[in-house]
Amino acid sequence: MRFAVLTLAFASVIACGVLIAQQQPATPSPWAYGFATPPGPAGANAPAAAPAAAPGGQAAQAPPDTTMHKLPGSDRSFTLTQIRDQYGPADWFPGDHPAMPDIVAHGRRDAQVAACSLCHYPNGKGRPENAGVSGLPYSYFVQTMMDFKNDKRKSADTRKANTNRMISFAKAMTDDEIKQAATYFSSMKWTPWIRVVEAGTVPKTRIAGGMFLVLEGAEAGKEPIGQRIIETPEKTEDTEQLRNSHSGFIAYVPPGSIKKGEAIVTTGAGKTTQCAVCHGADLEGLGPVPGLAGRSPSYIVRQLQDMQLGTRKGEWTDLMKPVVAKLTAEDMLNIAAYTASRVPGESRRSAR
Ligand code: HEC
Ligand code: HEC
Repeated sequence: MRFAVLTLAFASVIACGVLIAQQQPATPSPWAYGFATPPGPAGANAPAAAPAAAPGGQAAQAPPDTTMHKLPGSDRSFTLTQIRDQYGPADWFPGDHPAMPDIVAHGRRDAQVAACSLCHYPNGKGRPENAGVSGLPYSYFVQTMMDFKNDKRKSADTRKANTNRMISFAKAMTDDEIKQAATYFSSMKWTPWIRVVEAGTVPKTRIAGGMFLVLEGAEAGKEPIGQRIIETPEKTEDTEQLRNSHSGFIAYVPPGSIKKGEAIVTTGAGKTTQCAVCHGADLEGLGPVPGLAGRSPSYIVRQLQDMQLGTRKGEWTDLMKPVVAKLTAEDMLNIAAYTASRVPGESRRSAR
């Protein structure tokens, strides 16, 4: 009798394991990678081609971009062309950060390395479709750049064109340029940048370059959040047009997700290891291990999925392999909702 009960218990543990295995994302979650639909069958995933030039060279006749834009709190002004310059984008707030090394401010045109400050901003806060890079440990920064360079860090969704660009930059950079960028970005602390809001319904959005933007005018409306995190600029124009490095993001997360994520992160919930062991008590990083607190939840889910699906397999990723092995897509969403909601610097402030 006792044996039968044990066998039954054992069998249900196995059944449970199978169930968990089935829930694991076999394909990456589209929302985390900035897409509305999952990737298609192999071969159908090429990044969309650039639209063909207008017939008759109309594009060349576009009016010259002479309007100067300004931002409150900045004494500078730029045209849109200057703001988006791949080899020297606008630096609205030079007082925010130490002097930028040339590779960060301008990239290197002859090697087609765009300025880091274009996508990650001069202050390294970044955007959901790329990454926050300030406050990362120096040695982690260098290691992950080497992983990009050595084809050990790719996106699980091959449509993600900006990750492919990131890889091409790492390959073209010299060791010295990598060290300069790592020194610069690791010298700045990670500070609050994303406001996490639990919500059953969210504004309707469109996707531009991997970022969710709230629809305006006649298209505006609400829709159920479902099992997604929708991370969108606080102010669309400030982010999309002006690349205002003081204008942050809102992350809408499903109701109850923060609490569920807290249970997994702090106890392991029987399926993983407590994150604080390696990422630090306040999840702000420990030695060479990067911080998670207050960082983009879409970015965090992308990394967990890339690691589980095996497209991110860098020198140090083995330590994360057992951590992600049994997580479902929903677990990852809940974990990211919680880590994003942690306010960086909180424990430093309350200790005073
Ligand atoms: C065209 C936009 C773009 C530019 C320019 C760019 N990056 Fe990135 N970077 C990305 C994207 C996208 C990712 C995230 C990849 C992902 O989530 O799949 C990323 C990720 C990173 C990461 C990983 C962050 C982490 O937490 O592991 C580092 C480090 C980094 N970039 C450094 C740089 C440096 C240094 C430069 C300048 C030479 C640079 N990037 C220029 C788009 C860019
Ligand atoms: C045994 C140590 C260890 C534990 C436990 C651990 N991590 Fe990690 N984590 C690492 C290391 C080391 C890296 C760097 C991996 C790499 O370079 O590819 C990392 C990287 C990450 C990254 C990518 C960060 C970035 O900037 O790209 C995420 C996300 C992450 N961990 C989440 C978690 C979560 C969530 C937990 C708990 C459920 C957790 N980790 C538990 C060691 C650990």
